[in-house]
Amino acid sequence: LWRATWITALAATSYVAYSIYEESNPSKQQPQSAALPNGAPKKNLVILGSGWGAVSVLKDVDTTQFNVVVVSPRNYFLFTPLLPSAPTGTVSLKSIVEPIRSIARRCAGEVLYFEAEATDVDPVKKTVTIKGTNAVSQDLNYDYLVFAVGAKPNTFGIPGVYENACFLKEIPDAEQVRNRLLNNIEKAANLPKDDPERKRLLNFVVVGGGPTGVEFAAELQDFVDQDLKKWYPKTAVDIKVSLVEAMPNILNMFNKKLIQYTQDVFAETKIDLKLQTAVKKVDSKVITAQIKEADGTVRTEEIPYGVLVWATGNGGRDVTIKLANKLDLTKQTFANRGLLIDEQYLKVLGDASDSIFAIGDCTLSRKFPPTAQVAHQEGEYLATLLNNLSKIDSLKWELTQTENAEAKANILSKIDRLSNFQPFVYNHQGALAYVGSDRAIADLSWGNWSKMSLSGSFTFLFWKSAMLNMGLSFRSRCLVALDWFKTSVFGRDASNNN
Ligand code: FAD
Ligand code: NAI
Repeated sequence: LWRATWITALAATSYVAYSIYEESNPSKQQPQSAALPNGAPKKNLVILGSGWGAVSVLKDVDTTQFNVVVVSPRNYFLFTPLLPSAPTGTVSLKSIVEPIRSIARRCAGEVLYFEAEATDVDPVKKTVTIKGTNAVSQDLNYDYLVFAVGAKPNTFGIPGVYENACFLKEIPDAEQVRNRLLNNIEKAANLPKDDPERKRLLNFVVVGGGPTGVEFAAELQDFVDQDLKKWYPKTAVDIKVSLVEAMPNILNMFNKKLIQYTQDVFAETKIDLKLQTAVKKVDSKVITAQIKEADGTVRTEEIPYGVLVWATGNGGRDVTIKLANKLDLTKQTFANRGLLIDEQYLKVLGDASDSIFAIGDCTLSRKFPPTAQVAHQEGEYLATLLNNLSKIDSLKWELTQTENAEAKANILSKIDRLSNFQPFVYNHQGALAYVGSDRAIADLSWGNWSKMSLSGSFTFLFWKSAMLNMGLSFRSRCLVALDWFKTSVFGRDASNNN
C-alpha cells in the first residue's frame, strides 16, 4: 500500500511539475515561411476570434503547415461558463482568462496575432479588412478563413436596452455589473428605510430565463445571502433579485423535472421569478413589461429597477451580418442573425471559393445550439479538416512537379484517400447549470443510448469538477480552485475597487 501511495504521489507531483514547466516555457517555434519543405507554397490561414471555436482550431491545427494569423479585439480567451460567477467575486476575472499570446506561443509553428477587429470580408478577392486598436485598417489575404467571431447580446430592438442595461458576455460587462451593484448598495445605505428611491436602487432585475440569466440570478442571491447580509445587515435585507422571463418556463433546454427543481430553489432562496413577462421597453429607472395572465389576458406592469442585467440570447455581429448579406443567403430564410453553414463540413454556404469556414455562435444552425461545447467540438473537427486540406494542397503541388506517370498515380490515390472527409458529428454530453445555494442541475447524456438528470449539492460538486476539467490550462484550473477555496473561507469581497 505504501509503495502504491508513493508511486501515485510521485506521478501526481511529476504531472504538476511538468504542466507548470510546459505552460510557462514555450518551446522553439518553426518560423513562418513562403513554402513547405517540399517546395509547395504555404497557405495563409486567418482565424477570426479568440473564443471557444477559434482557440480550439488553434490548438489542434498543424501550425507548421500554414502561415497562421489570429485576429481578435480581445487578446485573451474567456472561459464563459464561469462568467456569471465573476461580478459577485466568487471567482476573479483574471482566473477565467487565458492570454492568446501564451496559447499562440505554445503552437509548433509561429502564429501571428493582431489585436484588431475584422470589419469586412471580401470572399471574391479572399481578403479580410481588419481595424486595429489604433484605428488603422489593413487588408489580410487568406487562403482559408476561419470565421469564429461569436455573437453579441440580442436586444430584439427593444427600446432603451442598449442605453440602460448591462450585459453578461465579456469581461468589461462583468466589471460594469459589479460596479453598478455595489454603487447602488452604498447609495441605498445612505437613504432612509422608507424612501422609494432606496427600494428602487436595491431592486436588481435579470431579464432572460436562459442559463445565463438563471446562473447569474443564483450567484447574485448567494452574494446577498452569504456575504452582503453580513457586511450591510440593514441594507442587504431589502435587496430584491428578480428574474424576468417571457415564456411560461425558464431553462427550456432542460428536463421538466430540473426546471421545477430550479424554480423550487428560487422560491426557497427568495428570487422573485416573473414568468410570462415580456419586457417591452426600458428607461433609466423603469422596465415596462407585458404580463400574460393565466386566463390569457395581457396587462402592462412597470417595474422600477436599480440594476438591470440583460441576458436574452445571441444576435449577429456587424461583420457577420455584412458577410451574410454579401453571400445573400440569410435574407432568404433568417433575419440578420448569422452565417448559414453546411453542417457536415462547416463551410459557409454561398462562398464560391469554398475557403471560408464558420464555427460557434456566429453560425445559424438548426442542429447545434450556440454553446461552448459545440464551438469547441466544431473547432477540433475543423482543425483536422484543415490539416487534411493542407496535405491535399501540398500533394496537388507535387503533382504539377512530376511527369512520371507512376508517381502521378500514386499522388492521385493519396489525394483521393485524403479527400474522403468524414462529416462533423456533434457529440452532446449534456448541459449543466448552477442554480444557487450550492446546488446545480445536470442533464447528462452518453451518445444516444443513455441519459441522466441530476440535481442538488452532489451535482454542484460534479458541476465544479466539470468546470475545472473544461479549463483551458493548468494555471487557470489552479486559480479557479483557489478562488473557490478563498470564497468558502473568507467570503466574497464587497469592495468596489475595480
Ligand atoms: P466566443 O467564445 O464568444 O468568441 C468570439 C471571439 O471573437 C472573441 O474572442 C471576440 O473577441 C472575437 N471577436 C468579436 N468580434 C470580432 C471581430 N469583428 N473580428 C475578430 N474577432 C472578433 N456554453 C456552454 O456550453 N456551457 C456553459 O456553461 C456556458 N456558459 C456560458 C455563460 C455565459 C455568461 C455566456 C455568455 C455564454 C455561455 N456559454 C456556455 C455559451 C458559450 O460561451 C458560447 O457558445 C461560446 O463562447 C461560443 O464560442 P465562439 O467561439 O463562437 O464565440
Ligand atoms: P437563451 O437564448 O438561452 O435564453 C434567453 C431567454 O430570454 C429565453 O428564455 C427567452 O424567452 C427570454 N427572453 C427573450 N426576450 C425576452 C424579453 N423581452 N423579456 C423577457 N424574456 C425574454 O440565452 P442565454 O441564457 O444568454 O444563453 C445563450 C446560449 O448560451 C444558449 O445556447 C445557452 O445554452 C448557452 N449557455 C449555456 C450555459 C450552460 O450550459 N450552463 C450557461 C449560459 C449560456
